[in-house]
Amino acid sequence: MHKHGQKQYFRAGATIFRAGDPGKEAYLIDRGCVEISIETDIGKKVLNNLTSGDIFGEMAIIDSSPRSATVTATEETELLVISQDYFLDKVATTDPILKHFLQILLRRLRHVEEVADRRDIHSSHTPGQSRGIIEDVTEFEVGREQVRYVLRMQKDMLEGLKRDEFKLYYQPIVRLATGEIAGFEALIRWENQERGLLQPSTFIGASEETGFIVPLGSWIFETACRATARFQQVVRETNPAMPLPYISINLSYRQFFDDNLTDLIADCISKNNLKPEHVTAEVTETLFISDPITAESFLNRLKKLGIRIAVDDFGTGYASLNYLYRFPLDTLKVDQTFVRALDSNDKSCQIVKALADLARNLGMDVIAEGVCGLQLAQWTKQLGCTYGQGYHFARPLPEEQAIELLASGTHWVIDVPADDEC
Ligand code: C2E
Ligand code: CMP
Ligand code: CA
Ligand code: CA
Repeated sequence: MHKHGQKQYFRAGATIFRAGDPGKEAYLIDRGCVEISIETDIGKKVLNNLTSGDIFGEMAIIDSSPRSATVTATEETELLVISQDYFLDKVATTDPILKHFLQILLRRLRHVEEVADRRDIHSSHTPGQSRGIIEDVTEFEVGREQVRYVLRMQKDMLEGLKRDEFKLYYQPIVRLATGEIAGFEALIRWENQERGLLQPSTFIGASEETGFIVPLGSWIFETACRATARFQQVVRETNPAMPLPYISINLSYRQFFDDNLTDLIADCISKNNLKPEHVTAEVTETLFISDPITAESFLNRLKKLGIRIAVDDFGTGYASLNYLYRFPLDTLKVDQTFVRALDSNDKSCQIVKALADLARNLGMDVIAEGVCGLQLAQWTKQLGCTYGQGYHFARPLPEEQAIELLASGTHWVIDVPADDEC
């Protein structure tokens, strides 16, 4: 098995593969020349000659059919391997419409070839054996259904935004030393006309796939910053000694590619008279791993605005820890799975403590997520977490309820005997 990115050498006259062979790689010609040919009833027919910079062998890796033609090196040739695994991994995470277009195009191409040649050289393909993107008719139909779903969702979401159906809820983030509200995380909901109140897990994925997260993300920033100005005003009026609450806003990886976002954030901050350090962007580790260069330049641009950056769901992304010093990060949010496991698992206690120590030593804050009982609030505090967030303190609340909570000066007493459980 040849690995992605490796080089392969062929002498002049060598056969690279034959029509009908199975194929798991495509190739970029780095140096040299190849001939693409098929056998016909009247002998060999040359379809094309390809040279340096050309690619061949892409058809078999797209749909896992056998090779449609024979490829021979006509001079000494050096190839760079593109593996099917690499290709399929990229396809798996791509826009479903793009993926389905690829399926349609290759189907049409093969159909045209078959009609032109009236020669069934692909008949040895057995559906189900392969893991190509057009494995069989069912796979094709699934692709078509996904496209329908995504397009329908896109239309519904656009209409929902126009009809003002999206709402932000605000969940308190509590300073564990004092039990006061330090800030809020903005969490989106969709009050859909037909389907009722929808949680983000039902539409955030589709909004990322369709690119709708970009206009939605702008709306989220504008709405959350406006609400924060109100929260801060309430604190100034009712409890001037309390530090002003900050807002933490989730950013999807797709928004990293939105060139207008940093200008929009700067605009939202100044329009609402917020201090940049009162705005935090929550990002997950995913893009640190898959596209560190984009992540670094985007985070540096955010940092120039003076806002803070938090790593969400910390510890679940399997990212190497070196990003902790490569990227300008201020806060770690320890994932709920570690926090909830404190109840039943001794090791998770060590993990939470180690994460809190690590963050503190790097000058970062630590938020324990998923604090759903007094006992967990106490443990996370003892283990060195600066902040806690979870149902024990409050569920995500509509803006007016968040204001009531602030106006009443609510704070939680953490150092009392605990008898509640999750
Ligand atoms: P997340 O950013 O990790 O948000 C925390 C989730 O945990 C929220 O779910 C919150 O309601 C829930 N939660 C908080 N405390 C507890 C607890 O004590 N126990 C339990 N079981 N759950 C708790 P929610 O609001 O359903 O959001 C789910 C995910 O959707 C978020 O996870 C985030 O990834 C995404 N999301 C939500 N709002 C936005 C948004 O405005 N923009 C983007 N890009 N993503 C968002
Ligand atoms: P694949 O079917 O994987 O293996 C043979 C390759 O030859 C095929 O992918 C294409 O990359 C290439 N190929 C097939 N037909 C033609 C053609 N008419 N012109 C140029 N290249 C072709
Ligand atoms: Ca979050
Ligand atoms: Ca989280």
